[in-house]
Amino acid sequence: MKKKLLHIIATPRGEESYTLQISRPFLETFRQKHPEFIIDELDLAKKDLPSLTVKSVSGKYVLLQGKDLFGQLKESWTEIIQYIEQFLSSDLYLISTPMWNFDIPYMLKQYIDLIVQPKYLFRYTKSGVEGLVINKKMVVITSRGGFYNTAKTQALDFQEPYLREIFGFVGIKDFTFIKAEGMDMGNEEMQKQNIREAISQAQTFAANM
Ligand SMILES: Cc1cc2nc3c(=O)[nH]c(=O)nc-3n(C[C@H](O)[C@H](O)[C@H](O)COP(=O)(O)O)c2cc1C
Repeated sequence: MKKKLLHIIATPRGEESYTLQISRPFLETFRQKHPEFIIDELDLAKKDLPSLTVKSVSGKYVLLQGKDLFGQLKESWTEIIQYIEQFLSSDLYLISTPMWNFDIPYMLKQYIDLIVQPKYLFRYTKSGVEGLVINKKMVVITSRGGFYNTAKTQALDFQEPYLREIFGFVGIKDFTFIKAEGMDMGNEEMQKQNIREAISQAQTFAANM
């Protein structure tokens, strides 16, 4: 059976995206090295993700009580379950995301709030929480307007720690972050150079996976 890489895109900037300028060459190299993989693209900016309304959010509490969804509630969760199944049926994840307000864009947060569900991505056991997404790797390609590479500025980066924490919570242990910083500092030469360096890092990483 073919393996699957799920490419989760969290920028609305399409062709203009700095992040995707790095992800595309990563994927080209990965495709050549791993023809056994299907690449499934989930462009969150083009999706109308379901909202957790008063009614549908109660599904989370049913699951938290260890029960199964039923009746109308189950029906209202059809789309959410489809996103969960797409995530769980993947072997490898690539997230392409800019930093927004020191963290991830809201569409990625909404996606996480939809898929991180008890019984599906994690469960409670006597010894605590157990992640159900096991033996899977995650690569995060990100670009940022500024720099977050000093002790002071690193503390403002809520994006990388959050992604490590939430996907670690559901069981992922193997993370690789590839970053291009200084995208919006008004220095085009430096910006292009930083993108080139991130592309080279991404291609080397993909070639050795
Ligand atoms: C809504 C919004 C919020 C942003 N917040 C930050 C931020 O907190 N820190 C930062 O360094 N850059 C910030 N940026 C700049 C982007 O991170 C930067 O331009 C990035 O490279 C864009 O990636 P993309 O072209 O793939 O969308 C923000 C951009 C937008 C549109």
